[in-house]
Amino acid sequence: MLIAANWKMNLGKFEIDQFSNFLQSNEFHDKLDVCIFPPSVYINYLNTRIECLPISIGAQNCYHEFSGAFTGEVSPTSLKDIGCKYVLVGHSERRINNNESNLYVQKCTSAAIKSDLIPIICVGETLKDRESGTALDFIEKQLIESVPSSFENIFVAYEPIWSIGTGKIPSSSEIKEMHKHIKQVISSKFNNSIKVIYGGSVNPSNVSDILNVNEVDGVLIGGASLNPKDFLAIYHSTVKHLNLYFSNN
Ligand code: PGA
Repeated sequence: MLIAANWKMNLGKFEIDQFSNFLQSNEFHDKLDVCIFPPSVYINYLNTRIECLPISIGAQNCYHEFSGAFTGEVSPTSLKDIGCKYVLVGHSERRINNNESNLYVQKCTSAAIKSDLIPIICVGETLKDRESGTALDFIEKQLIESVPSSFENIFVAYEPIWSIGTGKIPSSSEIKEMHKHIKQVISSKFNNSIKVIYGGSVNPSNVSDILNVNEVDGVLIGGASLNPKDFLAIYHSTVKHLNLYFSNN
């Protein structure tokens, strides 16, 4: 089970200090993977502030080359070098704002794997696709074109675009259907298995229902991960869901 916090282009040194002080007061379970994705300029800073905690650091994107004349790009090798474990690829905000195509996402994913990072490939349909009943087909195409032919350990984040930052989430049966579909596509087209996490308006009140869907292997949290109290509330709901107990209980 993975709890991933996508801070997007938010929080600076002052808030990171406050956030990490708050985290220090919490007990973390080693059976539950937690990863924070801060803005790339703060990866190192956050890492030094939480290095005593069992929390991983990830990057919100990476380039598909390792070094060279690529002004402004972020190399997956450098991300590994500064301590990243995971990298998000193909987040819908990047697909839309930076014109990232499925092929581009696939190239970045392959480079991330070669750099020993665990990629989390984001996929998600628009409201138009959802309403017209083509969501499953849309996601299948995104997967076939974005996932590299061979891999050992990657995640898919199912993030319906209409759910990101809107407070609207799909019903449990819609989440179940899509996560099942994603796992089936990966099994039939790639002869492989994959973990699928859900993202889009996850918050402390809806996380239990989302985690109750068997096919959900974790959550990718945007807005609610910026508030340490909400983030830890989601963490504790997940601990409860998994029936994990702390050593001093
Ligand atoms: P949200 O964002 O939780 O604010 O909807 C999720 C994401 O974009 O990863």
